[in-house]
Amino acid sequence: MPDITFLTNDGKVVSAPEDANLLRVSLREKGGIPFKCGGGLCGTCKCLIEEGRENTDAVKKKEEKLLSAEELEQGYRLACQTFLKGDVKVSWEEAPKGATAGARQVSPKAEA
Ligand code: FES
Repeated sequence: MPDITFLTNDGKVVSAPEDANLLRVSLREKGGIPFKCGGGLCGTCKCLIEEGRENTDAVKKKEEKLLSAEELEQGYRLACQTFLKGDVKVSWEEAPKGATAGARQVSPKAEA
């Protein structure tokens, strides 16, 4: 069974069934990856596969829309669109602590 390491969550390690969806594993095991839509639309679940990119499935069209070519090159994925074939280590940007809702950074989508 693949081991998923949630680096941003103090390196928490959980086992997942083969071909599991990364966001689903995170939800079930309290991995902590942020999310909103669960359907590849909002980009909230953007995360970086720091190790084990070869153990993830192919990048989806929805990911190509929400992530830049550079981000995909670096190993960024949308957790809700990523399925796992083996061990991965994943990190993500935490929402800044103490930030008010209005101060949230919104990334421009229109330019893509
Ligand atoms: S949760 Fe919205 S794109 Fe993944």
